Amino acid sequence: MAQRERWGSRIGLILAMAGNAIGLGNFLRFPVQAAENGGGAFMIPYFISFIILGIPLMWVEWGMGRYGGSIGHGTTPAVFDAMWKSRIAKYVGILGIFLPLVILIYYTYICSWTLAFSISSIFGFFPEADSIVGATSSSEYLAPYANYLGTYIGSTGDGLFLKPHYSAYIFFAITLGGGMLILAKGIAGGIERLCKIAIPALFIMATILFVRIVTLDSPTDPTMTTARAFAFLWEPDLSGLFSAKVWLAAAGQVFFTLSLGLGAVITYASYIKRDEDIALDGLSTASLNSFAEVVFGSTIAIVSAVLFFGVDGAAEVSAGGAFSLGLISMPAIFSHMPAGEFFGFLWFGLLYIAGLTSVVALSQPVIAFFEDEFDWSRKKAVFWLTLFFVITTALPMFIKGSLDELDFWVATFALVILALFEIIIFFWFFGSDRAWEEINRGAQVRVPRLFYYFMKYITPLFLCIILIAWVYEQLPSVLSNGDTGVWAARLFLAVLLMVHFAVVRAAWKRRGRRNQ
Ligand code: ALA
Repeated sequence: MAQRERWGSRIGLILAMAGNAIGLGNFLRFPVQAAENGGGAFMIPYFISFIILGIPLMWVEWGMGRYGGSIGHGTTPAVFDAMWKSRIAKYVGILGIFLPLVILIYYTYICSWTLAFSISSIFGFFPEADSIVGATSSSEYLAPYANYLGTYIGSTGDGLFLKPHYSAYIFFAITLGGGMLILAKGIAGGIERLCKIAIPALFIMATILFVRIVTLDSPTDPTMTTARAFAFLWEPDLSGLFSAKVWLAAAGQVFFTLSLGLGAVITYASYIKRDEDIALDGLSTASLNSFAEVVFGSTIAIVSAVLFFGVDGAAEVSAGGAFSLGLISMPAIFSHMPAGEFFGFLWFGLLYIAGLTSVVALSQPVIAFFEDEFDWSRKKAVFWLTLFFVITTALPMFIKGSLDELDFWVATFALVILALFEIIIFFWFFGSDRAWEEINRGAQVRVPRLFYYFMKYITPLFLCIILIAWVYEQLPSVLSNGDTGVWAARLFLAVLLMVHFAVVRAAWKRRGRRNQ
């Protein structure tokens, strides 16, 4: 067997893991979740979920991944199989390849929009700003910008099919091709190199935007100051503690933003040295991600929307979803600022960088699977993966309603299931003392013992409660949607899942033959 790849340096590993976590979720998804769930009411469940779910699961995934790497495997089918002596372990582990793959089917496409919009900003292609002062509602004011996005992705017409602008294909090809070229260059030579440049650049761009936003004056309401806009998010509001909806949203956001329950962190961790201090590194990347999220992600999109549209207007914009806040209201706001083209370029450039570093991270599990289990070369795996994305992205690109449906199943539901399996397999089947030692191996300062009890009891219990609440609260309304695009997405997911079963089965048959 070929020597397993390794990260080149500790700083490279931390930046790559930060790149894995920091993504569109921080800048597009988080502000919408926060605004829709009452701002201050969202933040307390968010921080509690971060401590009870986010940090423990981060350590669990780093520990499982590093253990897997030490026995030559970097994906959940093999890691689960090694830790849980059950015939079904490898099939449960399918989720760790299936979920990132499905997310990428739409995520790479969305990432390509941000590249297009960054170019649109710098060349001044966005509509000229009308005076916001006379507009009666935020939606009226935003209509030309909504139309700009709609024309780009081809959603303005009626019917089932989307008709993207021809440039959407070009930007998608550039984004996918760029990501795959980086992946072809390997862990240290491709991903780590990218993140060593991209993540510092991202923080610099975010800081410039942050400073610009906090020094903005409201064009509509002289009494609306930045401090009042901040208060919307930061004034604690305990009402969120009693709402299952807010808890679900907060926990879901913590998962998605930290890339937990997706298999991607486990795979990255499989390239770590056996004595790396994962207790500290895991905490550092989770903190970097959440800093980017709560400081930059919330301020740039929410504070500017509150300054421009007021608290109610910002909530109205957010209710339109992540694209409404990040891709429609932001260009409108920039078009009102001096040098708005430049700031728009920075905003969308930042989204693109954040997205691209997550695209490579989410692609790595399937590449690792074919390398580890079928002895494929990296280049061969990347080639087939590229082809797979070219074909499957047709679904969200052309069929209305399919993108949201894919996102719903994988990015809010299935990742909680995978996380639950991870923590149970690691702490209950592999053994809590062994798991605890895995996490603390190489640690300069051991993880506080309190987290042992979190990981063994509290986190799994919390995950079960989230799942039950989710099924009870959200499933009926989701299942009642019977649009054609929605059914197309469901059918696609079912077929893809079956293909995964067949591939994992073939891998283990092959393994059996080799062991004979
Ligand atoms: N964690 C990645 C994001 O936030 C997937 O976009």
